[in-house]
Amino acid sequence: MFYAPVALRPKKRSKPEEASFSRHEEPKFQDVRIFLVERKMGHSRRSFLTQLARSKGFIVEDVLSDTVTHVVSEDSQSSSLWAWLKGCSLSDLSTVNVLNISWFTDSMREGRPVPVQTKHLIQEILPETPKPAPVNKVSQYACQRRTTTENYNRIFTDAFEVLAVNYELNEIEGRCLAFRRAASVLKSLPWAVKCVGATQDLPCLGEHTKAVMKEILQYGRSFEVEKILSDERCQTLKLFTSVFGVGPKTAEKWYRRGFRSFSGVLSEPSIQLNRMQQSGFLHYGDISRAVSKAEAQAVGNIIDEAVHVITPNAILALTGGFRRGKEIGHDVDFILTTPELGREESLLISVIDHLKKQGLLLFSDHQASTFDISKLPSHRFEAMDHFAKCFLILRLEGSKVEGGLQRAEGDSRDWKAVRVDLVSPPVDRYAYTLLGWTGSRMFERDLRRFARLERQMLLDNHALYDKTKKEFLTATTEKDIFDHLGLEYIEPWQRNA
Ligand code: CTP
Ligand code: MN
Ligand code: MN
Repeated sequence: MFYAPVALRPKKRSKPEEASFSRHEEPKFQDVRIFLVERKMGHSRRSFLTQLARSKGFIVEDVLSDTVTHVVSEDSQSSSLWAWLKGCSLSDLSTVNVLNISWFTDSMREGRPVPVQTKHLIQEILPETPKPAPVNKVSQYACQRRTTTENYNRIFTDAFEVLAVNYELNEIEGRCLAFRRAASVLKSLPWAVKCVGATQDLPCLGEHTKAVMKEILQYGRSFEVEKILSDERCQTLKLFTSVFGVGPKTAEKWYRRGFRSFSGVLSEPSIQLNRMQQSGFLHYGDISRAVSKAEAQAVGNIIDEAVHVITPNAILALTGGFRRGKEIGHDVDFILTTPELGREESLLISVIDHLKKQGLLLFSDHQASTFDISKLPSHRFEAMDHFAKCFLILRLEGSKVEGGLQRAEGDSRDWKAVRVDLVSPPVDRYAYTLLGWTGSRMFERDLRRFARLERQMLLDNHALYDKTKKEFLTATTEKDIFDHLGLEYIEPWQRNA
């Protein structure tokens, strides 16, 4: 044992090299009893310091026992010192001051025991406890996971998104979904994956996804992702589909005809752009840039004003990504309805009219309601809802935005075009619409999958149908729907799956 002597050991006499100090100074400080640890200090230094202290009236014990109040050590490795102390069978180690040599030298200098300060302490470093095994396994359903906007695994999820988009453009739906599911699981983790082994208990991570993760961990990048990023077809399709109104089919058609840029498409006389695409190109610079929270707030104020000019008891609610607490979005989504059942559709039209009269409407695509309760429940998976809605581009004045507009460099205009979606369900469908439009898409997809596979129920933006009981379940709040499904309530800001 390196730290001898202790109380249980036979006493060892220290060598008499202490001659230079006056021998029998009366102890002055009765309530301080020092023990000097020999290890690292060495035998002769220990004897020297012992005599020095005694000559100044300090009590220095030769052995470690319960009477010792101050243990002084020159050992900088606190873990081995503490391990030794714990093995010394003292009755209460917590009452002993475990100190480094600075307390001793300070006390010698002052000629009295100085009060113990933090800098004097040798603190016990507790061994790091291994990460506790998750009590609740991560669910394969996004609607049973809490996913905030904080993403600790962006290096993987960004790569997965590139792969998912690529498979989507190539119409390989299975692989696209696999990468979206994997990304969604990683987004829900409150920790960063540092090795592939750490993912072994996680659902939805297959061989392919793990191979990509391994590459990223090892080389900082994925070769498959890099290949896609440099692939001309994929890049062109991505560019074309980034235009409002251009879907994958149109993009593919333009690519096949040899177009690679916007200027090529726009200068080709035989290409007929529809109204949405024309607006998409016209306002491309603005609407391809993210909408900020402050801009979304300003849009909300404009719509709120328009709505309440028309009817004071209308119900307007922010939904989509901004309701989930996102800092930026590609558009701003709202639900608009009224307590009078059946009035909602004309309300939507009046609101659009009002915005137009104010000169704020740059584009509007209004879709009338095709909602027919007798056609429910819908068995179509991921079907669009049938409520009245409109896809808008609004003119947002910079003066209306707190902190001003997020402008591109060199852009000095004092307004910006912003994409806005409005959906207008009958008020008795409000909770389902709110849940459906709050997203995220993966959260919605898994709510429906969970309902179908785990509960034999059909959920969409209109209703929840219990196939066993053969009845529709009513809901006035989102919480009611979670309750019907036997799911814990997940707050909107936890739905960023
Ligand atoms: N949605 C829908 N039916 C539509 C359009 C959208 O149910 N015809 C739902 C989507 O499922 C999504 C939500 O409305 O959950 C919002 O859609 P979107 O604006 O595309 O996505 P956000 O989550 O808001 O993302 P972003 O911030 O990019 O706008
Ligand atoms: Mn949105
Ligand atoms: Mn939207």
